[in-house]
Amino acid sequence: MIYLDNAATTWPKPTGVQQAMLEALNLGGNAGRGGHAASLKAQRLVHQVREDLCRFFGTDDPTQVIFTHNATHALNQALFGLLQPGDHVITSSLEHNAVTRPLKVLADQGVEVTEIMVHPDQEFPWAELDQAFQGNTKLVVTVHASNVTGTLLPVEQIGRIAHRHGALYLLDASQTAGVFPLDLGQLPVDLLAFPGHKGLLGPQGTGGLIVKSKVKPLKPLLYGGTGSVSESDEQPDFLPDALESGTLNVVGIAGLGAAMSYLKAQGLKQIQEREQALCQRLIDGLKEIPHLILYGGFRASSKASIVSFNIGDLDSTFVAYTLEQTAGIVARAGLHCAPHAHKTLGTLEQGTVRFSPSHFTTEAEIDRTLEAVKTVARDLV
Ligand SMILES: Cc1ncc(COP(=O)(O)O)c(C=O)c1O
Repeated sequence: MIYLDNAATTWPKPTGVQQAMLEALNLGGNAGRGGHAASLKAQRLVHQVREDLCRFFGTDDPTQVIFTHNATHALNQALFGLLQPGDHVITSSLEHNAVTRPLKVLADQGVEVTEIMVHPDQEFPWAELDQAFQGNTKLVVTVHASNVTGTLLPVEQIGRIAHRHGALYLLDASQTAGVFPLDLGQLPVDLLAFPGHKGLLGPQGTGGLIVKSKVKPLKPLLYGGTGSVSESDEQPDFLPDALESGTLNVVGIAGLGAAMSYLKAQGLKQIQEREQALCQRLIDGLKEIPHLILYGGFRASSKASIVSFNIGDLDSTFVAYTLEQTAGIVARAGLHCAPHAHKTLGTLEQGTVRFSPSHFTTEAEIDRTLEAVKTVARDLV
């Protein structure tokens, strides 16, 4: 198998991940749910990974790190926790359904939503963004890198503009966390949603939301046991307990911790450079293939490691299926849960074939992939 679907979930995981998960599985206690040794061990493990994430993302208070099941859960917690009928939110046309769908529900409940058209191959629409703010604009929410084209949004400037207008900025770092540096001590981002199972190289079922201290308390998505203030019928009002009801995924969190140790040892810069080099090799090869249409530009240095393309007017799912059957290539095709991005690109009908190499991908795998795409383009168009 040539695995080129790291934008969906990364594979393989670093070797330490499996071992850490096995050990956590055998701890025999529930974090924060008892005073016995096994429970305390689990609690310490969770706290350690919370601290690691806090340092990793440049924040100074581990209680601001909320564990979630995935990025979708983190985004829902932020959006439903913040927005109320009468509020206004600005977003982009490159969002994943993890943002678009909660915003649709909120719009049905009376939240005003403005979507700015952001085209991956055009200048960022600064004037449209600036003009979109209203007196009731509470939030700007955007993706950091499009999961369809890899296009990076100018998040620093977007955050500064949001703050100038008195709005908060929620960043969906699903395609960048673990590869691109995200220093919340510097970035004008108030809430950061991330999955643990993509660039951070942890297991599925992990993710998180980081909430900076200036953000007013979020309304919880879930209410229930937290192992704290148990005598009260009220949800605790302090973080992380306020937003972490129910048993945590300690096994997954242990795996995420081990994955982050690996990332620290490798260095993000090295990982990012390797991914961009592989992505550039892929782009350079693809753009020479007759009938091939590439979306999102030819420069890997201005993208996350994601390449979307079509071959003539062939159905994208048929192309991906053929690549898997003929060459064992694992790619994703279709709309990648981001229909507005495809509307922007004009690919809503056809979808795209998406390759997303990781730093574990080899040059030989890229070259074999290029040969396979060439064959499909030659034989099927
Ligand atoms: C940009 C973006 N946002 C959100 C998500 C949702 O992530 P998760 O599956 O961890 O909920 C994804 C997943 O592909 C994504 O690419």
